[in-house]
Amino acid sequence: MKKMIAIVLAVLMLASVMCLASCGKKEDTLTIYTEAGFAPYEFVYENEIVGVDIEIMKKVAEKLGVELVVEDVNFDSITGAVKGGKADAGAAGMTITAERDEEVDFSIPYASTEQYVIVKADNAEIATVENMVGKTIGVQQGTTGDLYCTWDLEDAGLATVDRYSKGSDAVQALKTGKVDCVIIDNEPAKALVAANSGLKILETAYANEDYAICVKK
Ligand code: ARG
Repeated sequence: MKKMIAIVLAVLMLASVMCLASCGKKEDTLTIYTEAGFAPYEFVYENEIVGVDIEIMKKVAEKLGVELVVEDVNFDSITGAVKGGKADAGAAGMTITAERDEEVDFSIPYASTEQYVIVKADNAEIATVENMVGKTIGVQQGTTGDLYCTWDLEDAGLATVDRYSKGSDAVQALKTGKVDCVIIDNEPAKALVAANSGLKILETAYANEDYAICVKK
């Protein structure tokens, strides 16, 4: 229920912000950038990009009376495209971070989430996040999972980070033993573990965070 209220508020506030930015101009489309390998927030179903973020932005487009255009791009290109005006908004399960906040503006948060650690089901070595020291960690490039592990572990010489353009590629690398664990957001982690056999999620989360939609400052 709290999440629903947050989503409705985010839609209303975004619609007014986007109207300030584009009402009066002749544009009749709202172009959003996302990375559609992130169920349930955005994923491809029967050749169409669907998910929570798409539903939110459909409502915003409806309120503005414009057509929604959804582009599937690499996650790490989204804030730059929004900043440069190529995209009107980024809707991609995007975590509010201080660094991103300098580049783009964020809506109010619409979901409180966590970063989860996925390991092979028979992994006895990594039982808590502390056990990632000395390991190779798979992440989606440019995500907070990537940033946190880079700052906390790789920059300190404590672990290696392997970056993939898709979360599912990081999970494939885990299955084939190229990486020891994968750090990814909680709901996508659950979806990936459900879709792939032989994997499990650690009980302790790596970090807590909030999602918001980003727009040009
Ligand atoms: N919440 C994380 C971040 O903001 C990951 C988001 C990845 N989203 C996606 N659509 N692939 O960095």
